[in-house]
Amino acid sequence: MKKVGFVGWRGMVGSVLVDRMKEENDFNNINSFFFTTSQVGMMAPKISNVDNVLLDAYSVKALSKMDIILSCQGGDYTEKVYLALKKENWEGHWIDAASSLRMADESVIVLDPINESTINNALNNGIKTWVGGNCTVSLMLLAIHGLLKVGAIEWVSSMTYQAASGAGANNMKELLVQMGELYSSAESEIKKTNFSILNIDKMALNKMHSSDFSKENFQVPLAGNLIPWIDQDLGEGLSKEEWKGQLETNKILMNDYEKIHVDGLCTRIGSMRSHSQALTIKLKKHYELTEINDLIKSANNWVKLVPNKKESTIHNLTPAAVSGSLDIAIGRIRRLALGDNLISAFTVGDQLLWGAAEPLRRMLQILINKDK
Ligand code: HSE
Repeated sequence: MKKVGFVGWRGMVGSVLVDRMKEENDFNNINSFFFTTSQVGMMAPKISNVDNVLLDAYSVKALSKMDIILSCQGGDYTEKVYLALKKENWEGHWIDAASSLRMADESVIVLDPINESTINNALNNGIKTWVGGNCTVSLMLLAIHGLLKVGAIEWVSSMTYQAASGAGANNMKELLVQMGELYSSAESEIKKTNFSILNIDKMALNKMHSSDFSKENFQVPLAGNLIPWIDQDLGEGLSKEEWKGQLETNKILMNDYEKIHVDGLCTRIGSMRSHSQALTIKLKKHYELTEINDLIKSANNWVKLVPNKKESTIHNLTPAAVSGSLDIAIGRIRRLALGDNLISAFTVGDQLLWGAAEPLRRMLQILINKDK
């Protein structure tokens, strides 16, 4: 059995990954080793069927004994350790949740329902670096897979509504703390039968602007607010999240699909762990709406088409509806009155599952099954 080393397995994405692997009994087919950056020698989780102590995540010697390393530890760790392993001519496979290696020539961005043949060709060509994609990119591609398969798309504008989870565990917690603080600030007025909504609004707004409002992680309020900027400022008015959307999409599609143009604005909103995107899609030719719906809903096992009706939409096309599931919901599909062959769509998917952990889990399975 292959020796698989896990790094960053206790963090948010790592924990989601381990839970999914347990659900699918993936640990039965590997010898699993758990590494740590801070607790070397302490007890490893019971799922380790080999070593019962945690190994040093900075020990190139210990890491290089692995056939496969799966890291959810973050970009700084990758930058230090991946290069050190390569210098030692380590020949194993590196699977990574961090973005640092995504655009490197030696890596493939993994999203196997979309680019399985690219992955297989890369495997045959000796590629050993496999990186999970940006969450909004992976979720969007799974949602519009049916249109990509027939080369129907000329361009897509994606306006995102990204959950707190994309910013990290502390941010998710901070969102709820902010909600609690806003409620507390206006509680006395909320509880009055003859409450004044304008007073409530003022109390909440004062709290948001006060110096003791909790915003260490987001820097600004997210609860009762939104933040139309995600990740670094790359200059020229472009955020790094938007840049990733443009480049990563076409790196994933590169060998198996026609190139599409992607652009849009990325926004953080107060949902917990599912990212939403409003898409405007320019099709290359006229398609009937029934044909578009049929293409979309039959594209893969996870996409769920939500009829463009109020009741189905408010119940099924929301972060609360899809969070914790592998469903990729897509709906609000209609022809836009803005020009020929322009359609709208709205899609929602769990940022921690298909947006992060699941493509990595599946890549690990591809590597395990390859030599069976
Ligand atoms: N960059 C994403 C976000 C998460 O901030 O929501 C990781 O893909």
